[in-house]
Amino acid sequence: MQVIILENPEEVAQHASQWVVELITKKAKPVLGLATGSTPISLYKNLVKSHQEDQIDFSHVTSFNLDEYHNIDIANEQSYRVFMKNHLFDKINIDQKNTHLPTCTQNENPRVQGLAYEEKIKHAGGIDLQILGIGANGHIGFNEPTSSLRSKTRIKTLTQQTLQDNSRLFKADEYQPTMAMTMGISTILDAKYVLLMATGTNKATAVNDMITGPLSAICPASALQLHEHAIIVLDKAAASELANQEYFIWANEEHQKINKTYGFFL
Ligand code: F6R
Repeated sequence: MQVIILENPEEVAQHASQWVVELITKKAKPVLGLATGSTPISLYKNLVKSHQEDQIDFSHVTSFNLDEYHNIDIANEQSYRVFMKNHLFDKINIDQKNTHLPTCTQNENPRVQGLAYEEKIKHAGGIDLQILGIGANGHIGFNEPTSSLRSKTRIKTLTQQTLQDNSRLFKADEYQPTMAMTMGISTILDAKYVLLMATGTNKATAVNDMITGPLSAICPASALQLHEHAIIVLDKAAASELANQEYFIWANEEHQKINKTYGFFL
């Protein structure tokens, strides 16, 4: 794992956007894995800015989101499709036909839909860079604690903690879905690079478990220990429970020299 500890959430977003911009400017047909939630919003703001001010082109990008609520109308304000449109898709020149979310309506078989999503990712050539956040309970995507480490895209029931954490986004009288379609842990591990962003002290325990804890289904993010290219970008608050912070800071300074000369990717 490459653990990068930065001063604040703005620096985390800035660093993550450099990875995305390098990928899409260097690759002919880049495939981006995207996340929703509060953490990547500032990354998307930076990407919109780089499109508007530096003419960064997204017309050749294909994207796959990690997850979507089960049986939610894509026009529903709470859907992840609308979230992505509001924060990114409608503000850049991506071809919306090439943006994908793992949808599943009431009348569709979630198992068939999950398989179809996996096939779409495969058909696009696989995900080059998967953006991730982390839940306070260690989830990635909606792979809740005890998710199978070899899971693929499928339907999951959210835990009470996740429902509670996300309830801030719903009005008091608004229906909050309890099930979601999500890429599996294996789907995420298949991405060529993964970049996980975490900010704030409420993520510090999960971050420490992910990086230094045992590889365990109880902390799904710990599966990233198995990934060849996992980049973990943290602010100081999210890194606050990590031992060995000095080592990570020093190692990152050394890595930055290599990145400056050779870029981020192989
Ligand atoms: C979002 C997702 C989730 C979030 C996680 C953190 O697509 O799959 O795993 O990344 O719940 O959410 P925030 O960033 O809101 O703390």
